[in-house]
Amino acid sequence: MKKFSLLFVVVVVFVLLGYKFVADNLENNVVIIGHRGAMGYAPENTLESFKLAHEMGVDFLEFDVQMTKDGVLVAIHDTDVSRTTNGTGQIKDLTLEELKQLDAGSKFNKKHAGARIPTVREIFEEFGDETKYYIETKSPQSYPGIEEKLIALINEFNLLDKVILHSANIESLSKLHKLAPDAELGLLLWYTETAYISDEEIDNIPEYIKYIIPNHDYLTEDYIKKVKEAGFSIHTYTVNEKEDFGRLVEMGVEGVITNYPDILIKE
Ligand code: G3P
Ligand code: CA
Repeated sequence: MKKFSLLFVVVVVFVLLGYKFVADNLENNVVIIGHRGAMGYAPENTLESFKLAHEMGVDFLEFDVQMTKDGVLVAIHDTDVSRTTNGTGQIKDLTLEELKQLDAGSKFNKKHAGARIPTVREIFEEFGDETKYYIETKSPQSYPGIEEKLIALINEFNLLDKVILHSANIESLSKLHKLAPDAELGLLLWYTETAYISDEEIDNIPEYIKYIIPNHDYLTEDYIKKVKEAGFSIHTYTVNEKEDFGRLVEMGVEGVITNYPDILIKE
């Protein structure tokens, strides 16, 4: 009886270790993308947030691009500055000089007072080719010419092979593809119930799209399998819990966008 119990324990331990080994290796191959930097710890879409995410070892810095009244590309999520700064107004109605006067840190935490909305140029100057960039054209319909400016800036810094450009706006993706046929592109999707994609919807996704990027909440194994079998890679947002990360990786997700990179990144 005792021999049987010992054997049972040994078998269980080996099974658990084997499972952990497989899970660890799967997780280690998954791309980690810092959402607006590391926005769980620092004011979103600021250099402070990007520096922290970079230090934590993300594969990509994710940020949202919009354009000022005087045509400068800046990293900010909302079309209006009021949620994240001490100012008011729309990005498209404010000059860079006006935007630069705003405090983009205090609303997150007083200790970040003085953080500024960065230009995309400043982000590239800060990190160069030491990281990769996961760049979203946000509300591109409000900013005629934003795609041209973005590709020109990426090319100026010779970073085309270091970026994944993504958007929920298919016209913006089409423009980006025409401007930079070699750029890797991703389509953002949003589900509010169990994720489903029909054969027709899959067939209608342009062949130049490489990544399908849905929110993670309603993903299923079948959905992920279907998308991958159609030839796409699948990344998902916004994954902040270790448990969700493990489950999604087991289901076949290949990249996650997270507010807390350190929770998902292994030593
Ligand atoms: O860009 C991926 C993810 O950031 C999309 O959600 O609203 O945070 O831009 P959002
Ligand atoms: Ca985004």
